[in-house]
Amino acid sequence: MTGRRITGRTVVAGVVGHPVAQSMSPILHNAWLAAAGIDGVYVPFAPDAHGFRRLAEGFRGGAVRGVNVTIPFKADALAAADKASEAARLAGAANLLLFEPDGRILADNTDGFGMLRAFAVQAPKWDAALGPVTVLGAGGAARGAVAALLLAGTPKVFVVNRTVEKAEAMAAALGQKVSPLPLNHAVGALGLSTAVINATSAGMGGAPSLDVPLDATQPACVVMDMVYKPLVTPFLQQAQDLGRTTVDGLEMLVRQAEPSFEAFYGEYPPAEVDVRELALEQLR
Ligand code: ATR
Repeated sequence: MTGRRITGRTVVAGVVGHPVAQSMSPILHNAWLAAAGIDGVYVPFAPDAHGFRRLAEGFRGGAVRGVNVTIPFKADALAAADKASEAARLAGAANLLLFEPDGRILADNTDGFGMLRAFAVQAPKWDAALGPVTVLGAGGAARGAVAALLLAGTPKVFVVNRTVEKAEAMAAALGQKVSPLPLNHAVGALGLSTAVINATSAGMGGAPSLDVPLDATQPACVVMDMVYKPLVTPFLQQAQDLGRTTVDGLEMLVRQAEPSFEAFYGEYPPAEVDVRELALEQLR
C-alpha cells in the first residue's frame, strides 16, 4: 500500500461506527484497492453516538461515494435512506449506504450475503433451501441472519433466545416461517435443523459460549458462529469435537465486504489478495 497516490479523482468511501477504531474494513478495502490499482480510498468515520443522521445528510450528493455502517448505527442507516433493498428492509438494518449524485441515499444489507457466502466457502454441500435452520439470538445480528435465510428459501427458521419475547417479536415481524423458542427448549429444533447459527454475542473475547446441546444435531448439520474473536469459539470447538462441519465469523466478515467494495468502486475485489490472512493478523 505504501506509495499509493491520492489524486483529484480519488473515490472516497468508508465505515461509520461508534467506536470505529476496531473495524477491520479499512484494512480489507485498502488492500483490495492497492491490489486492483483503483484510485480510491477507504477511511473510518466516528461521529458521536447521536451524530449518524447529520453525517449521512452531509454526504448527500456523493462527495463521499458510500459508507459501510457498523454498531450502533445500522438501524439509523436504514432510517436515513430514501430507498432500501429487500435484504435491508427485512433485516431492519443497513450496513451499506450509497450517496447518489442526484441526492438520494440508497441502503442495502450485505451481512446476510456474507453469511451465505461463508457457508458456500466453508460448507459447500449445505443448501439454505433444504431444511429448517436454528438461529441462536434475537438481536440485530440474528434478525439479519433470519432475513437472509428466508430470502434464500429456508422453509423454517427456529429463533432460539434467552429472552423468548424478543424471538416472538421477530417472528411477528418476519412471518410464519419463523418459530420462536426459549433457550431451554432448543433440543427439538436442533435435531431438525440443517444448520445452527450462533448470532448472540456469547463467546466473544473468550467469554463462555452458549450452553447448547449440539450433540442433539444430526451428523450433517453445519454449525456456524458469527463471533470471530476467538476464531474458534468454545461453541465451534464443541461442534468440531462432534465431527460437525463448521463455518466461522471471520469468513462472514470478509465476504460481507465484497459487494460493498463493488458498490463503491465499480468492480469486484481482486481474488488474489488473501484478506482473510490480513484480518487474522489483526486478530492475533
Ligand atoms: P446484536 O445487535 O449484535 O445482535 P443485541 O441486539 O444486543 O446485539 O443482541 C444480543 C443477543 O445475544 C440477544 O439475543 C441476547 O439475548 P437476550 O435477548 O436474552 O438478551 C444474546 N445474548 C448475549 N449474551 C448472552 C448470554 N450470555 N446468554 C444467552 N444469550 C445471550
